Amino acid sequence: MKSFGAPALVSLVLAALLAYNVHAISQVSRTGRYLYTADGSRFYIKGVAYQQQGIVTDTSANNPFGEPSTFIDPLADASGCARDLPYLTQLGVNTVRVYSVDSTQNHDSCMSALSGAGIYTIIDLTLPLNGSIDRSSPAWSTNLLDQYLATIDAFSKYDNVLAYNVGNEVVNSSSNTNVAPFVKAAARDIKAYLTAKKSNVLIGYAAIDGSDDFRDPLANYFSCDPSNTNSGSTAIDLFGLNNYEWCGNSTFEGSYSDTENSFAGYNVAAYFSEYGCVPPSGARPWTEVAALLSSDMSPVWSGGIAFSYFPAASAAGQFGMITLSSDNKTVSTTTDFTNLATEYGAAAPPNTPAQASAAAAAFPSCPTQNSTFLASTTLPATPNLSACECLESGLSCQFTPVVSDYTVVAGQLINTACGLLGQSGGTCSDIAADGAAGTYGLISGCDPTVKLSYVMSKYYESQNRNVQACSFAGNGTVNSHASTSVSATSVASSCIASPSATFAPTAPASTTKSSSTGTTTSAGGPKKNGASTLVGGGFVGMVSMGVVVVVSGMWTVM
Ligand SMILES: *[C@@H]1O[C@H](CO)[C@@H](O)[C@H](O)[C@H]1NC(C)=O
Ligand SMILES: *[C@@H]1O[C@H](CO)[C@@H](O)[C@H](O)[C@H]1NC(C)=O
Ligand SMILES: *[C@@H]1O[C@H](CO)[C@@H](O)[C@H](O)[C@H]1NC(C)=O
Ligand SMILES: *[C@@H]1O[C@H](CO)[C@@H](O)[C@H](O)[C@H]1NC(C)=O
Ligand SMILES: *[C@@H]1O[C@H](CO)[C@@H](O)[C@H](O)[C@H]1NC(C)=O
Ligand SMILES: *[C@@H]1O[C@H](CO)[C@@H](O)[C@H](O)[C@H]1NC(C)=O
Ligand SMILES: *[C@@H]1O[C@H](CO)[C@@H](O)[C@H](O)[C@H]1NC(C)=O
Repeated sequence: MKSFGAPALVSLVLAALLAYNVHAISQVSRTGRYLYTADGSRFYIKGVAYQQQGIVTDTSANNPFGEPSTFIDPLADASGCARDLPYLTQLGVNTVRVYSVDSTQNHDSCMSALSGAGIYTIIDLTLPLNGSIDRSSPAWSTNLLDQYLATIDAFSKYDNVLAYNVGNEVVNSSSNTNVAPFVKAAARDIKAYLTAKKSNVLIGYAAIDGSDDFRDPLANYFSCDPSNTNSGSTAIDLFGLNNYEWCGNSTFEGSYSDTENSFAGYNVAAYFSEYGCVPPSGARPWTEVAALLSSDMSPVWSGGIAFSYFPAASAAGQFGMITLSSDNKTVSTTTDFTNLATEYGAAAPPNTPAQASAAAAAFPSCPTQNSTFLASTTLPATPNLSACECLESGLSCQFTPVVSDYTVVAGQLINTACGLLGQSGGTCSDIAADGAAGTYGLISGCDPTVKLSYVMSKYYESQNRNVQACSFAGNGTVNSHASTSVSATSVASSCIASPSATFAPTAPASTTKSSSTGTTTSAGGPKKNGASTLVGGGFVGMVSMGVVVVVSGMWTVM
């Protein structure tokens, strides 16, 4: 009789693990400002953006990069990945960047196929529309935190996630650098979450290129230490620059040397999170690959992501290096594809410095605020879901959306409610946040719908709890479970007891709300070139709340 005891099982498992390890993709880690594989070789990103463009509903000048409103998750499309893998291999890429993924879908097939081919993924945690920090009314709040954590949880079992990006081009000019503290807080909280899970995946941000007077301090801000104790707890690991300076046949001196100089002292790893300008005529020669992956650039940069595998259109041109047949089954390559494959194949960046001699990163103090760089070093708190749920359940008047896609309506209603509240002598300061002043309202970290319920409740209470004052044309409902003698303000101060606390967040028990219909919200597309901050579709009302401030003079932050 055969004994199939523990030792046999253990050795079977060990054998399986060993067999797996033979093929396992190497873990990449950061030492100082360089990336290394497990054997100590320098790791350079030879990448390509990999996501079909979603539907672009706003084609106005307000949306120069063609940021889409929908996305198609390429890592959930098993047959698409199987179709594309031979082409990604021909291109010679070791990394794909994906701008939006659907955490409710299954990614096993694509992730394991990519891993088996030695291809890492850089995954943006943001989604179109309300799934990213909104540059015109920024907040770092429970809804976004939960979305980011749900994505991390969905991908934590794979061995080929190189980095998670907490934003793409959220700050897009000097005038909205006040949005940076919200992004830095996101990096801090995601870092704490990954550290608690013992994950070594890098935390990144992908920046728009632009004038040095905000681009450079922004890069330094994301990797700085506001506490001046050389701590990296709020610092990203991987700075991405979306750089299109090299067009056609250029030279390092002509296109890149200024950028190289600007980043000469950068403290963490950096790469081009997008590159590949479309010249006025002719195919892209991709000759910049030889410059990017050379000793001219290797002191600062660890490669880049060519934009883009799939076709994508924007004001800057028609990108893409393959086309699909109308049934999506067959790939045709273009001259851009062949040229990029040749250039990646020929690239031979130096394997220096050795990991042992690479200096550990120092985390310097943050850039000083000035007229072209507005970001405060006081960051918003970690969003506290249980505190916001406590608040929501205790409020006297609750937003009860009548449509499932409530983002725009909620924005309009916040405007309406703040306007009414202002006329009756109240303010909306508790829901406001100001990244230039470094002041964050008591409930600025809650979901927008909770903020709305809070403002509705304050208005309803200001009207002596007249039922009509909670109606908001059918969008509000009196909460019969709430005490009629307790105000919204006091519910908030008891639920949100430590409003500026930072801590390692935990994922919501039941990767909750998203469970809904599992709608093919999928769809994704590189935003812009992939941008991830929604332009028009976000929490629209918050934008015009600024108007309330001006008009009523009541709406001041804290
Ligand atoms: C920045 O984003 C806004 C929309 O939020 C857009 O109108 C503007 O054109 C963008 N600016 C740049 C330089 O991309
Ligand atoms: C603001 O500071 C940054 C460096 O942090 C600098 O590049 C920029 O030129 C400064 N802006 C002004 C208006 O002085
Ligand atoms: C780049 O140079 C090559 C070789 O001289 C030439 O064939 C190609 O047309 C040039 N491409 C562009 C976009 O200028
Ligand atoms: C091809 O793929 C696109 C994007 O995923 C999709 O919109 C389209 O319906 C597909 N066409 C067919 C015939 O499957
Ligand atoms: C989050 O809020 C809850 C509810 O008020 C509170 O019990 C908890 O201590 C808060 N967590 C942190 C880390 O501040
Ligand atoms: C975006 O809005 C939709 C409803 O319109 C909601 O289901 C989703 O949870 C929201 N996402 C975030 C991150 O707030
Ligand atoms: C809810 O609010 C929106 C936006 O203010 C409004 O258009 C709508 O009529 C309201 N009522 C219902 C039942 O949706």
